[in-house]
Amino acid sequence: MCGIIGYVGTQNAVPIILDGLKRLEYRGYDSSGIAVMNNNGFDVVKQKGRLSELEALISQRPMSGYMGIGHTRWATHGKPSDINSHPHLGSQNKIAIVHNGIIENYRQIKERLEQKGTNFVSQTDSEVIAQLAEYYYNGDIVEAVIKTAGNLEGSYALGIMCLDEPDRLIAIKKDNPLIIGVADHGIFIASDVPAVLAHTNKVYYLNDKEIAVLTKTSVEFYNMDREPVHKEPETITWSIDSAEKGGYEHFMLKEIMEQPRVLKETVQSALGCGDNRRIIDGLDVSRFNRIVITACGSAYNAGMVSKYVFEQLCRITVEVELASEFRYKDPIVDCNTLVILVSQSGETADTIAAMREAKRKGAATLSIVNVVGSTIARESDYTLYTMAGPEIAVATTKAFSAQLVLLYILAVSFAKKLGKITKEAADNLFAEIASLPDIATGMLKRIDPVQKYAATCVGYKSIFFIGRNIDYAIAMEGSLKLKEISYIHSEAYAGGELKHGTISLIEDNTLVVAISCCERLYEKIYSNAEQVISRGAKVLFIGNCIKAVPGERLEIIELPKINELFAPSLSVVYLQLFSYYVAANKGLDIDKPRNLAKSVTVE
Ligand code: M6R
Repeated sequence: MCGIIGYVGTQNAVPIILDGLKRLEYRGYDSSGIAVMNNNGFDVVKQKGRLSELEALISQRPMSGYMGIGHTRWATHGKPSDINSHPHLGSQNKIAIVHNGIIENYRQIKERLEQKGTNFVSQTDSEVIAQLAEYYYNGDIVEAVIKTAGNLEGSYALGIMCLDEPDRLIAIKKDNPLIIGVADHGIFIASDVPAVLAHTNKVYYLNDKEIAVLTKTSVEFYNMDREPVHKEPETITWSIDSAEKGGYEHFMLKEIMEQPRVLKETVQSALGCGDNRRIIDGLDVSRFNRIVITACGSAYNAGMVSKYVFEQLCRITVEVELASEFRYKDPIVDCNTLVILVSQSGETADTIAAMREAKRKGAATLSIVNVVGSTIARESDYTLYTMAGPEIAVATTKAFSAQLVLLYILAVSFAKKLGKITKEAADNLFAEIASLPDIATGMLKRIDPVQKYAATCVGYKSIFFIGRNIDYAIAMEGSLKLKEISYIHSEAYAGGELKHGTISLIEDNTLVVAISCCERLYEKIYSNAEQVISRGAKVLFIGNCIKAVPGERLEIIELPKINELFAPSLSVVYLQLFSYYVAANKGLDIDKPRNLAKSVTVE
């Protein structure tokens, strides 16, 4: 959590850092701050609240500098407050830092320094970094940073400025992402690429315990023994437009609307002649007797959907595990297991830990990741990239859809390689997957019924989602989407499970959203709908095989026909829009829902 950015160059750092923070706000947004270096030393402004409030403050009290660091926070240690906001300074005001991560041994360091007379002002773990760096500082900031890092346990991405060395900006990381961007007017550090895209597409990826020393015109890299490290820059293909709202009220709506293009490019990369195709073709699947998919949140839901596809086509057992559980359960995986990691950011702490545990046990790891160069992408044995581009809204939409199609393509390819389906059958399935972008385009031209129905749903306290088989898996994603952005309580159930307890929650005017794209199970899910209607519920049926007619308590939204294995890619589009319009009608901050951050880089 938290986003950090730093700049040293020939332009005023303040607007550059504020703009970068806007693009990192998805990582946390309970407080923000900025420290710049100018001819008078440090100038620091930080406060609780959204970045827009910091901007307003700075517009009343202008500041400038040729170098600076900025931070947008998602609180872990110490509540959101002015004093707990970053940047943090040591008590001699010599060193300023911004930190993304968690320092696990901060209490011990704090006690040690307090015994030596250091006065702490915040409740954060991060302040110990500034205080410790000042304690070690003896005229050489790089040496002080190396000594400080040697004492830290936990995770960190750090931007550091030192009053006595006003030409150098220092960066170091461990277990949290940090990139270095090189522009013609200066050098950047940032948690993520969109923060620097307006200035450059040339970036270096910092590895754990590598130190970057930035000046206005240069960047040098060192290891912890202070030996120079040679690194090659990478060119980012994302455009700045992809990180802008492009006329939409919210990033989430823009990203929902981008799905046909994202699906098309992702399918193309895996079925055409892209890198994904090369990797999938090269995989020897005959060595695997088990597949485990592990991920968090929506990425976990994508895994749940694909379990049905893999098992149906490959006849191989697929387990889907929450990454936060997998890491602690002494998982049964070995060299004959393929562990698939699914992650938009590629930086989710639990998924990284799950990947490392799987590798430690000898399993092969394949990741499906959106952010190029992210930790999971770099550390897994095989990496497939979703072609979603930057996803800014906290609630994932287009990245989820791209994950789904890559998982489908993997499942069909595996089934073909294992001889479970013929080449002709595989080609037919690939053709159906390739038709998804055009079908989604058509659906997005007909969103009125979803928008209108959602407008009537703002008053619900609780909304249930039901489905059977693969429709149940996608119902889980519909439910997660709704609760995270509309703050309405919601749960997803397998239709057949209602009678085992949940039906007691159904009362007059409860809303149940029923997904129905498995034609062979239509009568079953319809009967579940009738059961809840007869107990006072209203039902919104979303599907492509519904025979019922709308009534006072039954609304129907039609989906196009497609193989039931790939139908979740269609249902999810209207489920996303349903949540979006419920939240929009409630006037909520859709792109930055309360308490959440997009990239969960802490445990
Ligand atoms: O970056 P990741 O895909 O690893 O993130 C996993 C979850 O944190 C993420 O899917 C989260 O559930 C989203 N906010 C859902 O919209």
